[in-house]
Amino acid sequence: MSASAAGRTGRTAVADVDASAPVGTVVSADLDGAPVTVVRHEGGWVVVDDECTHAACPFGADGEVFDGHVLACNCHGSEFDLRTGEVLLGPAERALTVRPLVVVDGRLVVGDEGAAGRS
Ligand code: FES
Repeated sequence: MSASAAGRTGRTAVADVDASAPVGTVVSADLDGAPVTVVRHEGGWVVVDDECTHAACPFGADGEVFDGHVLACNCHGSEFDLRTGEVLLGPAERALTVRPLVVVDGRLVVGDEGAAGRS
């Protein structure tokens, strides 16, 4: 999986992931050369940095989604709301930056409009 231009849309493709993959899918990818994690939650697809805000464990390797919208870090148990990035359970104290993805021509791309989680 690699970042690349999305052609005529002018948006950045994040990952070649089956857009119909089920809720709970967690995939490592890169965005503009930076490691990110692409996650499907009940409201759609989002991309977050591939490191927990607590101690930088990578979500791509160990992240887990439950209750349809909660991303858990398996290093120390922090939980984040994928709709907002809010910390639901520590030890993390800082929210995740959550960016919505949209499906364009069957590819997931960084959206430039809409609320977090919309697909
Ligand atoms: S690194 Fe994620 S909870 Fe500590």
